[in-house]
Amino acid sequence: MNETIHTILTRRSARAYQSRQIDEKEMHEILQAGQYAPSAMGQQPWHFTIVQNPDLLEKLQILCKASFQLSDNATMRELASSDDFHVFYHAPTLVIISGNSKAVAPLWDCVLAMGNMLIAAASLGIASCWQHAPIMVYGSHTGPASLSSIGLTFPSGHIPYASAVFGYSAQPLPEAAPRKPDTVTFLR
Ligand SMILES: Cc1cc2nc3c(=O)[nH]c(=O)nc-3n(C[C@H](O)[C@H](O)[C@H](O)COP(=O)(O)O)c2cc1C
Repeated sequence: MNETIHTILTRRSARAYQSRQIDEKEMHEILQAGQYAPSAMGQQPWHFTIVQNPDLLEKLQILCKASFQLSDNATMRELASSDDFHVFYHAPTLVIISGNSKAVAPLWDCVLAMGNMLIAAASLGIASCWQHAPIMVYGSHTGPASLSSIGLTFPSGHIPYASAVFGYSAQPLPEAAPRKPDTVTFLR
């Protein structure tokens, strides 16, 4: 198995982080991996917002936790009821990829870019975890205004489509769940 495939198979979501920030050079390599993702018609309609300010991360975390508390999903409500639950698992970096909503396929473009970033990070020994909460908050009725009130804004005409935290894992990463059977059909 080559190194790239090995990295893809061994990447796992981390849910406890050290406070140590990611090395600047490695952060830029991870971002570059995102910027080199394929995009519909080569439009590259994305913008990468890197949140590393601890106060802003905490304010956003509080908004996200509140949205979990109001969620229809019982698991989310239960998670958010615990004082110990930190939506970002105390990771020092959150990346939000927004896209120009008028582009051909901005959701897919941004999600592919984030996929590249998760793999690139894993190849450098940097852990990550996809974060749905900031996207959910933005999508709520008051979301854009509440994000903007804490200082989190996006380029004009952009919608945030993908977000994930990055940092050094504070614990060994879990084994991958077994893959579901019967998910492949060859038509030959
Ligand atoms: C669209 C999407 C949303 C996700 N949202 C969250 C999230 O909000 N919080 C979280 O801890 N993990 C989140 N995850 C991570 C998944 O739970 C994780 O990828 C899955 O359990 C498989 O584990 P693995 O990444 O270690 O292989 C999300 C993953 C995806 C693809």
